[in-house]
Amino acid sequence: MFNLDRLTRENIRNLIPYSSARDEFSGEAKVFLDANENSLGSPLTKWYNRYPDPHQLKLKEAISTVKAIDREKIFLGNGSDECIDLLYRCFCNPGKDNVIICPPTYGMYEVSANISDVEIRKAPLLNSFQLDLVHLENLTDEDTKIIWICSPNNPTGNSMDREDVEMILNNYNGLVVIDEAYINFSPQKSFLQELADYPNLVVLQTFSKAWGLAALRVGMAFASEEIIETLNRVKPPYNIGQATQELALKALEEVGQVNDMVIELVQMREALKGVFEKLPVIEKIYPSDANFLLIKVKGAKKLYNYLLGKGIVVRDRSNVKLCDDCLRVTVGTEQDNTVLVDALIDWQVENK
Ligand SMILES: Cc1ncc(COP(=O)(O)O)c(C=O)c1O
Repeated sequence: MFNLDRLTRENIRNLIPYSSARDEFSGEAKVFLDANENSLGSPLTKWYNRYPDPHQLKLKEAISTVKAIDREKIFLGNGSDECIDLLYRCFCNPGKDNVIICPPTYGMYEVSANISDVEIRKAPLLNSFQLDLVHLENLTDEDTKIIWICSPNNPTGNSMDREDVEMILNNYNGLVVIDEAYINFSPQKSFLQELADYPNLVVLQTFSKAWGLAALRVGMAFASEEIIETLNRVKPPYNIGQATQELALKALEEVGQVNDMVIELVQMREALKGVFEKLPVIEKIYPSDANFLLIKVKGAKKLYNYLLGKGIVVRDRSNVKLCDDCLRVTVGTEQDNTVLVDALIDWQVENK
């Protein structure tokens, strides 16, 4: 049976959260003398001298409408990276508990675990880049608090088989975090609407990819009210700045524009794949449900440095397990993609 109390660290269960100045009154106020702000104003025209809403209610309301998820089931972090860090701090006892990751995958699950002194257990993906359920099951014990699943996965680009993920959700009593940073680029259905069925499910999404707002730093965690409440107790009071809240709110009015960009990026990904298929230097292009392509090339390191020399930065993943000689290439603008392809053609000519 899933039991959130059992999963939550004792010190967090007993924590008396910080009560911010803005938490301690309700109703309309005219004179704010409670938070030691600069009452004269700010060098900016906006009233940025005031602390922002610690609960980001307006922004959550708008996200709730766009995602069709209750506001109480939404947590906002300073990027998904803050959500990842907070999940460790809420649920994993340093030096005692463990979590499972499925490499090759997003690096912060491991880095954050190391920062929190939480043991990482690895169930590498199969050669098909799908989950190894048997290995996963063998790794879990009563101190396993989180299984991290990234779908579509970074850096491989594929989505995990839904039945496999459901198998884990149905049979594992710890938290299952599904990181859907790239879900907008995927034909697969999000797990968001499954929250009602799985009390152990946490879905991560972000404004950094499809929404094009990586600089703002807004990540979203969706989960049961109890899990969200726990994250809220632990987060720094004002973790999302006022300007960020305003800009994200504005962006949410432009869902149509974002959808158009997603369609365009997916088309460009497929077009780039078509061009890559004709380049002998590229030995394999892995199927992608994301806004990047993982490619296997001859001499990845050399090619990586060659591209760098031309001012083109891709991600060298050749040292990563199962990704020998692989580079990860983000889909760029038409012009970016052309510059890249031209450089690859030059490389081929020079290395004949
Ligand atoms: C799978 C995955 N999750 C999370 C993140 C981080 O997202 P954010 O910018 O919201 O911190 C990334 C960034 O590359 C990612 O690839």
